[in-house]
Amino acid sequence: MERKGWAFWPWRMILALRQTVGRWIQALLSRLERPLRAVPGMERRLEAEYAAVLQGLEPILKPYQDLPAFSRLPPEGEAPDRVFQLLQTLAAREETRWRKGYASGAVYHGGAAHIEFLNRVYALFSQANPLHPDLWPSIARFEGEIVAMTARMLGADQADEEIVGTVTSCGTESTLLAMKAYRDWAREVRGITRPEVVLPVTAHAAFEKAAHLLGLRLVYTPVDEGYRANVQAMARAVTRRTIVLVASAPSFPHGVIDPIPEIARLAQAHGIGCHVDACLGGFVLPWAERLGYPVPPFDFRVRGVTSISVDPHKYGYAPKGISVILYRGRQLRHYQYFAATDWPGGLYATPTLLGSRPGGLIAAAWAAMVTMGEQGYLEATRAILETAARIRDGIRQIPELEILGNPLWVIAFTSKTIDIYRVLEQMGRRGWSLNALQHPPAVHLAVTLRHTQPGVAERFLGDLRDSVAWVREHPEERGELAPVYGMAATLPFRGVVRDLLYRYLDLLYEV
Ligand SMILES: Cc1ncc(COP(=O)(O)O)c(C=O)c1O
Repeated sequence: MERKGWAFWPWRMILALRQTVGRWIQALLSRLERPLRAVPGMERRLEAEYAAVLQGLEPILKPYQDLPAFSRLPPEGEAPDRVFQLLQTLAAREETRWRKGYASGAVYHGGAAHIEFLNRVYALFSQANPLHPDLWPSIARFEGEIVAMTARMLGADQADEEIVGTVTSCGTESTLLAMKAYRDWAREVRGITRPEVVLPVTAHAAFEKAAHLLGLRLVYTPVDEGYRANVQAMARAVTRRTIVLVASAPSFPHGVIDPIPEIARLAQAHGIGCHVDACLGGFVLPWAERLGYPVPPFDFRVRGVTSISVDPHKYGYAPKGISVILYRGRQLRHYQYFAATDWPGGLYATPTLLGSRPGGLIAAAWAAMVTMGEQGYLEATRAILETAARIRDGIRQIPELEILGNPLWVIAFTSKTIDIYRVLEQMGRRGWSLNALQHPPAVHLAVTLRHTQPGVAERFLGDLRDSVAWVREHPEERGELAPVYGMAATLPFRGVVRDLLYRYLDLLYEV
């Protein structure tokens, strides 16, 4: 064992040195960004660059020039039949890609009967709002049951304390609320006024958003060769101001599970929180474990795990707009809540970020969970993991490609010999909507029930082989979007990348 440790030393030192030097260079270059952008004419040139990039996206994002558009209210209301017809046309044009399994993640179930059932449930409660529990006590009941069922699925029965939680609108909101709970707990109980969160660089961007909104300092730590959180680095990053450690089960980029028992132990040793982001895996891993897959401990059975975020609207097969945040004990949940006691509008209290909330979605999420049941989730997980194994094997047989880490069903791959972003672009030309990753450049496919349909995995692998061959055989072609991804991933001036992203968001709102 010791010999092996020694053998790894120089390699680790070089890696650490490279990371440190890389950070210094990055910090130096980022200081140059302001003065460079102050050079006369520079902003104008940047605007021209942004416009050129966005023009390339227009055909993808604005394909409906042939259909009626409404940039102001019609003087008189349109006939509902005509409006519905227009909507049917739009939905039909978009349906084929996700229904046939061309998307990474996005639509996790997508079966026609399942969707039709959820739509019928939504219709029953489309007017319901849990802000009025006297009018719709049914929705409060659904929420309580969604939380209880999710908590039990994640080890609540074997936990030393009561597991409680709330229903939220998305994984990002669950993340935000957990971070708020830890912030307010730490301020009140520990007197921490400049709170810090320690998290691996692979944690979801939602944590960055939470820090941005809540005034938290994020302390990022590196991951190991398998893209799992480096616990020693996390231990070194903990200070008197640390309020919570974050781990993923699995991480969005590479689909790998962080060493949660070790991270939770570290958190316990410091008397702070350990939040597990199981947004992606919460409805897969419990069933994968039952099926005998190697699932490391990640849920409330691990002492020291104090909160878990988990998304019914992903692999829980609920409609979009439903997530759950769970806590060990009621105290943390109280730090999430909000109450206004002196408002002339009356006594006002909300459990989550939103005010009014869509009761129809909550009812549909509840209906998805109780109709799936344990057996339904078990079968769905079996199908997804078996398909993912076939896809992983197929990718491994493409010599140019390399899978990152040791994932179960969210499969990231890169290449040392060809531009992976050009492969992504070629896959796009063949209809695929995959995720582009950076640091390092890679692409991932989150396998869903859509990919378990006959022939889909084979079509994915066939298209991937063709895309790789095309890129190999056309080294002179730069591609259209690939250079943009490449530039965005490597450009040291991150403010420029941010501005480009803001203009991209602007473009989405252009009518
Ligand atoms: C691990 C993880 N956490 C958080 C999120 C954010 O979830 P949402 O998009 O529902 O806000 C995602 C989304 O993919 C995720 O994969």
